[in-house]
Amino acid sequence: MPHSVLDWAFVLAQTTNMQPLNFAILGPGGIADDQHAPAIKRHPDAVLWSVLSRSPERGLHFANKHGLSAPQPCFSSLDELSADPLLDAVVIATPDRLHAEQVIACARAGKHVLLEKPMATSLAECDAMIRACSENKVTLALAYHLRWHAGHRMVRTRIQEGALGVLRHMRVHWTFAAKDGTNWRSSPETGRWWSLAANGTHCLDLIRWFMIPTEGEIIEVKTLTSNSKFQSPHDETSIVALLFESGATAEICVSVQFESDSRIEVYGDTGSVRMEATMGRHGQGDIYINKEPFPFEPVSPFTGELNNFIECVRNGAQPEVGQLEGKRNVEILLQSIHSSGSDSYPQP
Ligand SMILES: NC(=O)c1ccc[n+]([C@@H]2O[C@H](COP(=O)([O-])OP(=O)(O)OC[C@H]3O[C@@H](n4cnc5c(N)ncnc54)[C@H](OP(=O)(O)O)[C@@H]3O)[C@@H](O)[C@H]2O)c1
Repeated sequence: MPHSVLDWAFVLAQTTNMQPLNFAILGPGGIADDQHAPAIKRHPDAVLWSVLSRSPERGLHFANKHGLSAPQPCFSSLDELSADPLLDAVVIATPDRLHAEQVIACARAGKHVLLEKPMATSLAECDAMIRACSENKVTLALAYHLRWHAGHRMVRTRIQEGALGVLRHMRVHWTFAAKDGTNWRSSPETGRWWSLAANGTHCLDLIRWFMIPTEGEIIEVKTLTSNSKFQSPHDETSIVALLFESGATAEICVSVQFESDSRIEVYGDTGSVRMEATMGRHGQGDIYINKEPFPFEPVSPFTGELNNFIECVRNGAQPEVGQLEGKRNVEILLQSIHSSGSDSYPQP
C-alpha cells in the first residue's frame, strides 16, 4: 500500500506506463539549486532535463551538480531551450519582472509552467500570461510551497472542520536580515516589491488559503512600509492589514531588515492555533492548537508542490494555486504598495 505522494506517483507512473516529464529550470539560482532541482530529481515521474542561464559557466556548473539528462542540457537562449521537442515543462525561478515574458514564451512553445511567486509585477502581465497559457492549452501553477507543509495542511483541515469556531483573526510574521541592499528585488529593473515579494506574498497566500473558504474575499487592504535600512526603492518592512467580507481581519509583518522566527497565529471564537518557525523551505517547525503541541511529520513541501503540478499536467486539473489565484495575490500586493504610497512604478 503506497504511503507518500511519491509512492503514489511511482505506482501511477508504473501502471500507466507513461514516460516521465522532462523539466527545464529557468534561473539556476538560490531556490532552484536548493529545492526545485532536488525535488525533480527525487520524483519518479520527472526528469531534470535542461537549464537556462545567462552564463554558460553557471549553466554547466548547475548541470554537473544536479546531473541534467538532456544530450545538450545548457542554454542561454530561451527560444532555443523551449524549441526542444523532448522538453515537457519548465520551472521558472528568475526575478519577478522576467516572469511574464518567460511564461508567455514557454506557453507558446507548448511547455507547462510551474512558476515561482509572485506571478508577475502587474495585472496586465498576469492577463497576458493567462491568455497565452489558455490559448496554448498548457498548465500554469504558482509555486506557493507553504501550502504543502504537512502541518499547515492538517491544521487547515481542523480549522475548516470548526476546531476554532468562527474565525476572527489571523496574523503572519516572517522576516530575515538581507546582507545589503543589492538584491535584485530592490531594483525596479528586476522587481517591484522587496519584503512583500520575498515573504509577504507567501504570507498573503496562507492567509487567503486559511480564511477565504469561511470568511469570503479580502475587501480592504491598508499597508505601511519602511525602507529605512538600505534606502531601497522598494519596501524593506511591510505591515499589511486585511479585512474580509465577513468582518474577520488579518495582518502581515514582513521585513528584510532583521532576523526573527516566523510565527503564524489563527484566532477563532473557541480556540487558537500558533505555528512557530514553519515558514521555511523544509516543512519543519512547531504547532500548537489551544496551547497543546500538535504533532506532524515534516516532509519537503517542494515534493507535494511538484507532485500536484505533475498530476495537473497529466489529467488537466486545476493546480492547488492556479493562475487566477496568482493574479489575485499580485492584485493585493499592488493594493498594498499603492495604499502605502511606496510604488516605484505607479500604474496608470
Ligand atoms: N518559494 C520560495 O520559498 C522562494 C524562495 C526564494 C525565491 N523564490 C522565487 O524564486 C525566484 C528566484 O529567486 P531566487 O531567490 O532563487 O533568486 P536568485 O538566487 O537571485 O536566482 C535567480 C536566477 O535568475 C537568473 N536571472 C536571469 N536574469 C536575471 C537578472 N536580471 N538578475 C538576476 N538574476 C537573473 C539568474 O541565473 P543566471 O544569472 O545564471 O541566468 C539567477 O541565478 C523569484 O521569483 C523568487 O521570488 C521563491
